[in-house]
Order: sequence, then C-alpha cells, then structure tokens
Amino acid sequence: MPSSTPCYRRSFLFLALLSACSSAPGTVDGAGTAGGGGDAAAMQALRRDLAPPGWGPGADHCAWRGVTCAGGGGAVTAIDLPRRGLRGDFAAAAELRELARLDLSANSLSGGVPQALGALTRLEFLDLSMNALAGAVPPALGGASRLRFLNLSNNALSGAIPDELRGLKGLQELQISGNNLTGALPGWLAGLPGLRVLSAYENALSGPIPPGLGLSSELQVLNLHSNSLEGSIPSSLFERGNLQVLILTLNRLNGTIPDTIGRCRGLSNVRIGDNLLSGAIPASVGDAASLTYFEASTNDLSGGIPAQLAQCANLTLLNLAYNRLAGEVPDVLGELRSLQELIVSGNGLGGEFPRSILRCRNLSKLDLSYNAFRGDLPENICNGSRLQFLVLDHNEFSGGIPAGIGGCTRLLELQLGSNNLSGEIPAEIGKVKSLQIALNLSSNHFTGPLPRELGRLDKLVVLDLSRNEISGQIPGDMRGMLSLIEVNLSNNRLAGAIPVFGPFQKSAASSFSGNAELCGDPLTVDCGSSIYGSSYGTETDHRGISYRVALAVVGSCVLIFSLVSLLVALFMWRERQEKEEEEAKKKAAEVAVAAAAPQVVASAVFVESLQQAIDFQSCVKATFKDENEVGDGTFSTTYRAVMPSGTVVSVKKLKSVDRAVVQQRTKVVRELERLAHIGHENLVRPIGYVLYDDVALLLHQHLANGTLLQLLHDNGERRKADWPRLLSIAVDVAQGLAFLHQVATVHLDVCSGNVFLDSRYNALLGEVEISRLLDPTKGTASISAVAGSFGYIPPEYAYTMRVTVPGNVYSFGVVLLEILTSKLPAVDEAFGEGVDLVKWVHAAPARGETPEQIMDPRLSAVSFAWRRQMLAVLRVAMLCTERAPAKRPRMKKVVEMLQEARDS
Ligand SMILES: *[C@@H]1O[C@H](CO)[C@@H](O)[C@H](O)[C@H]1NC(C)=O
Ligand SMILES: *[C@@H]1O[C@H](CO)[C@@H](O)[C@H](O)[C@H]1NC(C)=O
Ligand SMILES: *[C@@H]1O[C@H](CO)[C@@H](O)[C@H](O)[C@H]1NC(C)=O
Ligand SMILES: *[C@@H]1O[C@H](CO)[C@@H](O)[C@H](O)[C@H]1NC(C)=O
Ligand SMILES: *[C@@H]1O[C@H](CO)[C@@H](O)[C@H](O)[C@H]1NC(C)=O
Ligand SMILES: *[C@@H]1O[C@H](CO)[C@@H](O)[C@H](O)[C@H]1NC(C)=O
Ligand SMILES: *[C@@H]1O[C@H](CO)[C@@H](O)[C@H](O)[C@H]1NC(C)=O
Ligand SMILES: *[C@@H]1O[C@H](CO)[C@@H](O)[C@H](O)[C@H]1NC(C)=O
Repeated sequence: MPSSTPCYRRSFLFLALLSACSSAPGTVDGAGTAGGGGDAAAMQALRRDLAPPGWGPGADHCAWRGVTCAGGGGAVTAIDLPRRGLRGDFAAAAELRELARLDLSANSLSGGVPQALGALTRLEFLDLSMNALAGAVPPALGGASRLRFLNLSNNALSGAIPDELRGLKGLQELQISGNNLTGALPGWLAGLPGLRVLSAYENALSGPIPPGLGLSSELQVLNLHSNSLEGSIPSSLFERGNLQVLILTLNRLNGTIPDTIGRCRGLSNVRIGDNLLSGAIPASVGDAASLTYFEASTNDLSGGIPAQLAQCANLTLLNLAYNRLAGEVPDVLGELRSLQELIVSGNGLGGEFPRSILRCRNLSKLDLSYNAFRGDLPENICNGSRLQFLVLDHNEFSGGIPAGIGGCTRLLELQLGSNNLSGEIPAEIGKVKSLQIALNLSSNHFTGPLPRELGRLDKLVVLDLSRNEISGQIPGDMRGMLSLIEVNLSNNRLAGAIPVFGPFQKSAASSFSGNAELCGDPLTVDCGSSIYGSSYGTETDHRGISYRVALAVVGSCVLIFSLVSLLVALFMWRERQEKEEEEAKKKAAEVAVAAAAPQVVASAVFVESLQQAIDFQSCVKATFKDENEVGDGTFSTTYRAVMPSGTVVSVKKLKSVDRAVVQQRTKVVRELERLAHIGHENLVRPIGYVLYDDVALLLHQHLANGTLLQLLHDNGERRKADWPRLLSIAVDVAQGLAFLHQVATVHLDVCSGNVFLDSRYNALLGEVEISRLLDPTKGTASISAVAGSFGYIPPEYAYTMRVTVPGNVYSFGVVLLEILTSKLPAVDEAFGEGVDLVKWVHAAPARGETPEQIMDPRLSAVSFAWRRQMLAVLRVAMLCTERAPAKRPRMKKVVEMLQEARDS
C-alpha cells in the first residue's frame, strides 16, 4: 500500500512529538522497559538538535540509521554517526541511560564537550574526535566510570587534563592528541591497570612523562610527540616488555635512552628525535628485534652506532642525523636487507665510504652528509640498486666520481658538494636520466671540460657545479636540460660564450661569475664582434621562446616531484600515527588473518554509501597484478580494482619517496576527508585511502572512459571524440575549475591527462586533493619547484614560481586548444623549433593562416554548426591563453562563454 505509507509515518511522527512534549526526559515510560520511553523523548530531541541524515520521521528511533537498541524496549545502547557532517547540539545524548557507545567522530560539532555525558554510567566507548569542540575537558566526565575508550583527539580543547578523570579506572585507550591541552600528564595515568594506548601528541603539554608509566599496565602504544615534555624517558615504559610504538619526537626530553629498551621484543617503531637526549645508544636496542623504524635525529647522543642494530632484521629506516656520534658505520649494517633509509648526517662519523651498506638492495636513501668520511667513492656505487637519494656532501671524499655512477638508474638527487673530489666529471653522468631534484658537485676540485652528456639530463631541475676548476666552453648540448630552473657554474675556469638557453639567460649573473674568460648574457661581459659574436646575435630573438620550449617538451602530466613526495610523506606520517592506534588491535587479529595478505595499518572510506562496497584487501591485491594497471607516472601508478561487491574503484599507489618530517599532518588528513564531502560533479572525489607497510593507496571512483588525453590522442579512442561530446567535456571541466576557484583553491596540474571521463563521457577534473592539500595559500606547503605539466604552464610561472588562478585559466585554455586542434600542447614537429601549441596558434595570423588551418578538419569540416561553435570556442581559448595574466577571463566567465558557444 504505497500511498498510505506517508500518512502512517505522519501519524507516528505526531505521536512522537506528543510524547516528546509530554514526558520529561529520563522518566520511565509506562509501556516500555526502563529507559525506553525516556529514550524516545531524548532521541526526538537529538533528532531535532543534531538532524542526522536518515533519522526519522518515524517514531521508532531504533530503526534510525546508526542507532542500536537493546531488546524490545527501545533503550538505545549505541549511536554511531561518524562522518555525517553534523554540526548541532548533542547534549540530549546524555539522557540515554543505557548508552554504551557514542561515536560522533569526524563531524563539525562545535561548542564544548557536554559535561552531562559524565552521567552515562554505562558508557564504554566515547569518540568525539575530529570535530571543532572547544573549551576544557569537563571534569564531570570522570563520572562515566565504565569508559574504556575515550577519544577526544583533533578538536580545539584547551586547559589541563582534569584530575577528576582519575575515576576512569577502566580506561584502555585514551586519545587526546591534536588539541591545545596544557599542564602535565597526570600521575594517575601510571596507575591505570588496563591502559594500552595513550596518545596525546600535538598539544602543549609540559612536565615529565608520568614516572612508573608502563609498570601497572600492558602499555603498547605511547605517542606524545610535539609537546613540551621534560625530564627523561622513564625506563618503566619498557619494563614489562609490551611496548610496540614509542613516539616522543619534538619535546624537551633529556637523559639517556634506557637500557631496558631491549626488553620490548615487539617494539616496531621508535621515534625520539628532536629532544635533548644524551649518552650512548644502548647496545640492547639490538634485542628489540622487531624494530622497523628507529629515528633519534637531532639530539645530543654520543658514542658509536651500535653494531647490534644489525640484529633488527626488519629495520627499514635508521635516522641518527644531527647528534654527536663518532666512529664508523658498522659493516654488519650491510646485513639489514630491508633497510631503505640510512641517515646519519651531521655527526662526527668518519672512515671510508661504508661499502657494505651497498649490500642493502632496497636502500633508497643514503645520507652521510656533514661528517668526516674520506677516501674514494666505490666504483660500484649503485650496482643496480634502488638508490634514489645519494647525499654525501660536506665530507672529505677524494678521488673522482666513479664511472659506475652511470648504474644509478633510479637516482633523483646527487649531492657531492664540499668534498675533496677531483678529476673530470665522467660522461657516464649522462646515463643517470632519472636525476631530477639536484646534481650538486660544487666546492670540489673537478677539472677538465663539462661533458656534453649533461644535456641528456632532461628532468634535472637544479645543477650546481660552482667552485671547481672546470675549463673549456659550456657545451651547447646543455640546452637539452629541458627542466632546468636553477643553474650555478660560477667560480670555475670556463671560457667562451654562454650558450643561448632560457634557463641560462634567466639566471643571475652570479651563476656564471668568477669565470675570467666567459662572456655573453647574463654576464655584463659582451662577447663583442669576436668569434662568438655572430651566432650569439642571431639567436637572441629566440630567447624567450626557447625557455618556453624548455618547459614545454617533456610528456604530459608529469606531476612534479616535490608535490607528490610531500603527499607521500604526509601519508607516511598518517601511517605512523594510525599504526599506533591500530597496531595493538591488528596484532591480536593477525593470527586469524590469512598469512598471505599484507597487513593494512590504516584505511578509511569517506563516502558513506561506499563503505560496505569497498574491501581494502581487494584494493591492495589489485595493485599486485600488472594487468590491472591503467596508468603509470613517475611517482604513482594507477590500478583498476574490482571489489567483491562488484564495485570498481581506481587505486592510485604512491611510490614511497621520502619520510621527511611534515608538519600539520593531522590537519591534512582532515582536509582529505573534508574534500570528500565538498564534492562537485565535475571534480574527482577521493573516496578513501589504505596504508600498509610503506605503501599509500588513494582510492577514487573508477571512471570508465579514461582521460581526455587518451580520447584526443589515442588513435583507437579518437573516433569517439565528436565535437558535441568534446564541447560538453570542455564545459564540464570549466565548471569544475570554476567551482574550485570559488572555494579559493588553485589546481596545481590542469591538463588533459587529469580530465577523467565517466561512462557517459561526463568529465571530472582529477588530482584535486593534491591541489587542496598543498594549496600554498593555506600554508600547508610552499611550492618551490615547478608545478604543473609541461606545455600547460603559464609563461609568468617562469618568474613568479607560483601557481595562480589566472595561471589555471591559461592551462585550461591550453586544454581547449588541444581539443580544437587535436594536437599535443608541447612540441609538435609541425610547430617548428621553439614553438609550442599556444605560440603556434597565436602566431597563425602572422603566418597568414586561417583558423581552418589550425582546427582539426575531422571536426570542423563535418558541419557548419560545428565549425561555428569551434570558432567561438577558439576565441575563448585565445583569451584564456593571453600572455598577460590580467587579460585572461575568470573561470566563471569562461563557463558562460562556452555555454553561449554551445547554445549558439
Ligand atoms: C578514537 O579512539 C578510539 C579508542 O582508541 C578508537 O577506537 C577510534 O578508532 C578512534 N577514532 C578515530 C576516528 O580514529
Ligand atoms: C592554546 O592556548 C594558549 C593559552 O592556553 C593560547 O595562547 C593559544 O593561542 C592557543 N592555541 C591555539 C592554537 O588555540
Ligand atoms: C633534565 O632537565 C631537567 C629540567 O627539565 C633538569 O632538572 C635535569 O637536571 C636534566 N637532566 C639531565 C640529565 O640533563
Ligand atoms: C619481520 O617481519 C616479518 C614480516 O612482517 C615477520 O614475519 C618477522 O617476524 C619480523 N621479524 C622480526 C625479527 O620481528
Ligand atoms: C625490497 O623491496 C621490494 C619491493 O618493494 C620488496 O618486495 C622486498 O620484499 C624488499 N626486500 C626486503 C628484504 O625488504
Ligand atoms: C653487484 O650486484 C650483484 C647483484 O645484483 C652482486 O652479485 C655483485 O656482487 C655486486 N657487485 C659488487 C661489486 O658489489
Ligand atoms: C650545493 O651544495 C653546496 C654545499 O656544498 C651548497 O652550499 C649549495 O647551496 C648547493 N647548491 C644548491 C643550488 O642547492
Ligand atoms: C685531497 O685529495 C688529494 C688527492 O686527490 C690529496 O692529496 C689531499 O691530501 C686531499 N686533501 C684532504 C684535505 O684530504
């Protein structure tokens, strides 16, 4: 009887309202069991104040979403409403006498923590994390004496942890991180017999870690980083041997690392950097055989690196930088087969290059900088390894760069500055095509000419060869270094004319100074009408152009290193943080889990409707099979993953790059979740993430029809690209971008490869989270390297180094031109040397060409109507790609113009 249902509901609601008005909160309803009737009133009040989606209008509150009742009496025992966008008042929940579980995490709740919650004597689980709750932690909360799990993290709470909470004798997990709590950690925490997890990082806590903590309970996770804690690390923490995660980074702890640390056979994660710890690293640390991360940088530790660390077979990261360690890197560390990062910079270490470390086949970062290592670099310095960062500057290495450097096929950064290296720069350096972040050989004694092979390093952004004795001319081949932004060849013995090459002439004169016989722009020394003069003169006109070409050549959608690595780092941080929260539970569950499956340490699905559909193990497993791969970039690989439910999601696997310390990580995760909520139909939404081992996976909706790039340029796809479809795609992208600008966000990588097409060819702009997370105006990160994809980068970027709203408009204009011409935006044979798509189109009138000669005839020749619309869109594209940023229209206007073109 479908028609009667609404009426039935209405009368029920009426009854409910009646009962809400007539019965006082908490009173016993005549018909129900104790608490049931009172719960009806409280639940109606909660519905009114909090308005959770899916609540009501029926009066049977036990049927509302996220509500669990006990028995038939209507007494509410659990409310689970995480991530519902709630912003109202939830104090009425305090009247639900039987409530054992209340989860309102990740909403937008503000005001204070209601002190009435303290009256809930059956409450065992309270999660109010990730809201905007302010004020003090109410002392009355101590009345909820059955609480076992209390999570108030990531709010704006202030004041001290009230002593009244000492009544919570059953606490097992206390999470209060990411607030503004002050005062000391109360001493009674050490007396809680069941405490397993204590997480209070990112507050303003002072005083000592409570003495005796860990003695009376099986403490597994202690995370107190980023506070102002003082005193020493109590040896009691390790006494019972249960500790698994210890994170105390960024405090003012002093004293030594307790010898008892070795009792914790399950200790996997130790991070105690940025404190005032002194004394030696105890040899017993080698008994903590499960150690995966050991980070103790920036302390005052002395003595040697204990050889016993070699017993920690799973050690992945060892960071002892900036201490006062002396001696050599023990040979036995070469047995650490899992080691990925060895960072010992800024100590007093010496001896020869620790060759044995090269036996760690998974080593990706080796940082020996700022020590006193000496002798030759080993010939087999890479030998097919995974080395990405080789940072050896500020040592006393001598001899030459071994030709074996050519084997470093994955190297992103090579820092050899301020050593005693000599000889010629070997031509093999040109084989290290992966070099991207920097090649820095400054302040050594290199001699001879610059190898022409440097020109093969077309991804390299920073080149510093200053302060050597390099002679000869600067080879013209260096113009192949298409990504160069910063160059320094000063203080050498170079001679002749500086080749005409954008990055050279755009540099300061100081980049070339101190070479007595060097001439030409940017030096003030004119080459005159001498041997170099003529060729120099003719090339001058192309100067501006060649720089654009430099930016414009490399393939589409190269997401630049710094951005992605930062994102990866953020996720690595999230991993650590989640690890502590999850590890304890996971460990227990591990026995039951199939041995083959990797252990997911953290995961979340933001979109509620998909929560049932997504299976994290399936996401992980999809990435193991090459046939699922749908795209591969330098820093991420995308896979198609089919869930057991049949749902298909896109899984982007970020390649682990660096676990640099990044501030504000909790906020960033929050931002990611928020982004999933802001949504616009033309933006790809993140739907979740999975973290395991060192891997971060970002989940997105799967868009069946690939990217605009493929549609335009894959021959197979090309025939599906008719004009109305392309125009509609253009309008979609414009709308997505306009929305982003409206919410004050600049996209960092507008290009056709980031335009995704769903099954009906609706277009969605992707890579939005990177833009949101790294939005410079939000202070999350500063953009210091190139941002965007070559060919789409606005000309002003070369000097502003900032991605702006008009810059986005330019990149969008390039996408329009790409649609109109079916040509790739970077160099095309047809454009001629030094010309990219934008230049080619803008110069058409000067060449005497008509728009027909520019637009793809397969589209424009089909009908007059199509041709007319294309001409209109071409005008929009020309406006968007105006050289002067101020002349470009706003995206809102662009949307209007495109819609007009479509309706004409
Ligand atoms: C809050 O902490 C509790 C107890 O430790 C935990 O079970 C819960 O997952 C945490 N909530 C969030 C959103 O991480
Ligand atoms: C934290 O509290 C202190 C005073 O207790 C206040 O000065 C500071 O502004 C607060 N910080 C934040 C981020 O709320
Ligand atoms: C550690 O710091 C405290 C003050 O915070 C000081 O009283 C104590 O002497 C210091 N201990 C050591 C070993 O430096
Ligand atoms: C190292 O890791 C593997 C896989 O996670 C585990 O099976 C092994 O027990 C670990 N080794 C130690 C010494 O903890
Ligand atoms: C080295 O890395 C590869 C790929 O990440 C991984 O499969 C392998 O298990 C690692 N080896 C060790 C010893 O950790
Ligand atoms: C180079 O690596 C191979 C394994 O990839 C190894 O067998 C060989 O001994 C290494 N060479 C040196 C000199 O270490
Ligand atoms: C290259 O290394 C030296 C140290 O030897 C450093 O001073 C300089 O800033 C580095 N150059 C660049 C461009 O980072
Ligand atoms: C620098 O290297 C040369 C040989 O290349 C050597 O003679 C000289 O002693 C070294 N200087 C220092 C300070 O190590």
